[in-house]
Amino acid sequence: TQNAAVNDDEEETVSAILRKVEDWLQPFRVSMETLRDVSVRLRRDLIRGLGKHTHRRAPVKMLPTFVRATPDGTEKGDFLALDLGGTHFRVLHVRVLEDQQKLLKMDSQICAVPQEIMLGPGSQLFDHIAACLSEFLVSLGLRDQVLPLGFTFSFPCEQKDIDKSILIRWTKGFNCSGVEGEDVVALLREAIHRRGDYDIGPVAMVNDTVGTMMSCGYRDRSCEIGMIIGTGTNACYMEEIKNVKRVEGEDGRMCINTEWGGFGDDGSLRDIQTEFDLEVDRTSLNPGVHTFEKMISGMYLGEVVRLVLVKLAQEKMLFGGEVSEALLTPNTFKTEYISQIEEEGTGLDRAREILLELALPAGQQHCRILLLVCSTLSTRSAQLCAAALATIANRIRSNRGLDQLHTTVGVDGTVYKKHPKFSQRLQDTVRILAPHCNISFLVDEDGSGKGAVMVTAVAQRLAMQSRL
Ligand code: GLC
Repeated sequence: TQNAAVNDDEEETVSAILRKVEDWLQPFRVSMETLRDVSVRLRRDLIRGLGKHTHRRAPVKMLPTFVRATPDGTEKGDFLALDLGGTHFRVLHVRVLEDQQKLLKMDSQICAVPQEIMLGPGSQLFDHIAACLSEFLVSLGLRDQVLPLGFTFSFPCEQKDIDKSILIRWTKGFNCSGVEGEDVVALLREAIHRRGDYDIGPVAMVNDTVGTMMSCGYRDRSCEIGMIIGTGTNACYMEEIKNVKRVEGEDGRMCINTEWGGFGDDGSLRDIQTEFDLEVDRTSLNPGVHTFEKMISGMYLGEVVRLVLVKLAQEKMLFGGEVSEALLTPNTFKTEYISQIEEEGTGLDRAREILLELALPAGQQHCRILLLVCSTLSTRSAQLCAAALATIANRIRSNRGLDQLHTTVGVDGTVYKKHPKFSQRLQDTVRILAPHCNISFLVDEDGSGKGAVMVTAVAQRLAMQSRL
């Protein structure tokens, strides 16, 4: 009984400290009311991005993608796909089978993109891509075929057409010189021609959100939104062409790449940014750019947690006021740790291991505070995404004058897929913020890259139909 009493005492101190930390974390909690307000601000920014004259200075770019239709099942043929945007570069050979709701991945290969290439001259990046593709084609005996190619390029691009795509700016971990303001398809073709050992057919350029929407669209025809929550975050959706003031035409729809990561770049989210968000921005590769993304996505989430832990220690609420060398080193707290720590059953043990790896005290109390910090930040991330997604769903509903919208969102990205609670929190919040939208979520199992093939295939189908 004496032991039990000691445990009770201990439990009481731990709860008292947890409550204190909880209060301290208050700035990271975004109320439903604020989320509603965030959604109103984003709605205004979507309209600014779509407008002919307001577009140029709009923080949310709303980029036309020249994708006018989702798959109808009659597409077919052999294609190549490239996928660049995360830490790896992928090359795929894909076969599309008519009427089978299926893409056959014939082969694929992953090439690493070393940091010096991610930050070096653009010509070196495209030579690297062309070399990986060459190696892939040779290994499959496809070097003499000229196949159409879908290029998933997960950065904001001003598209002039499906095969002309000008990089507006790098985001996430890339910063190659001489590419911003240039046509990415031309740079790829030039690099391939410099080699001269193979050639490619028509190219379709797509953002990863668009690829995700299209590859989910192949399985579910009502998929009209694509969303990524991974290294970065972004979404696309089918907008009425008449609302896309920068593109000719009155009838039909076009997929718009929102680049919602840029939301807040004009200061509109200043009230919900914490000192930690400002610090992450300041020390990033692109200060002032992609404010919303920096509060949400995998490239930054772990770093926000690290900064919070340092501050909690400095304020003597954690680790007995001590910090380790490791904890003081940027990016040592990986975003994937958050998913592991929030895992039911095994999370606290994992928390202990991680604290030990970082040379920090790892007692019960520290592990539980760490869990609290992680869940507070991942919840904020999920809820902010939910507010943004609800804005888009509400917009589609009002575009179409519907009482109730039924739609599907194709989703991809490691944060959404790997975190044990993220998707549930996001869906619960969307339900509250978009009560008249009935949204299904479809995780893209095909992996990015294949969607680009669907865009290429649909573009071919449309071209053939218009020739008939
Ligand atoms: C970044 C890119 C965007 C991409 C997203 C997800 O926000 O700017 O184009 O879709 O990351 O990868």
